[in-house]
Amino acid sequence: MNTAQPKKNIAVLISGSGSNLQSIINAVDEKKIHGTVALVVSNNAQAFGLKRAEQHGIPALHLSPAQYSDEQYDLKLLELLHTAHIDLVVLAGYLKKIGAPLLTAFNHAVINIHPSLIPSFCGKGFYGRHVHEAAVAYGVRVSGATVHFVDTGMDTGPIILQKSVPVLASDTAHTLADRVLPIEHELLTRAVSLFCDDRLRVTDRRVTILPSAADKTSE
Ligand code: GRF
Repeated sequence: MNTAQPKKNIAVLISGSGSNLQSIINAVDEKKIHGTVALVVSNNAQAFGLKRAEQHGIPALHLSPAQYSDEQYDLKLLELLHTAHIDLVVLAGYLKKIGAPLLTAFNHAVINIHPSLIPSFCGKGFYGRHVHEAAVAYGVRVSGATVHFVDTGMDTGPIILQKSVPVLASDTAHTLADRVLPIEHELLTRAVSLFCDDRLRVTDRRVTILPSAADKTSE
């Protein structure tokens, strides 16, 4: 962790339980992420993740898609992010597509966690348990999680981290989801930490992880 530089401000966008959000909050508290969760936004008023944020004194709000066109929604979201001086936007179980204005303003600064090994079981319709249902139905021997930069596609941006888990013959979508979720938390917190330490570089589709300051001094 490079504590010499100012902490980055992180916004986390959620739609549901917020366990990935919680893992980021915990990692910040444990000083594994040199950053601050400065804003949580959900498109779902019932998202438990909003309560998780409030319990930690983090500004959290519901932005209702019903009150805006898609374009106005993105512009409102962009306004909130700029007002909070956000450096990194994390999609953590967020089920609404990010529009071009936000991606332009936050180029290679929006990351997403996906519960499979992209490019398997991703894209339109592959979210939450649907991902695991497809993996079990296909009969894959391994699945896992992927953290990637968000681009204009759906689950198509440059991959930052991946980690696999075995898929057992006895697995259901539920048991596979339970095995993958902790890996999501592990990869997402590590990717956020790397971003906050300015250790991610993107060249075309390839992401390079730069050595830490400690690695450099031990050379
Ligand atoms: C998780 O299964 C994750 O794969 C997907 O959304 C689900 C809920 O995540 N991105 P969370 O508990 O709301 O972070």
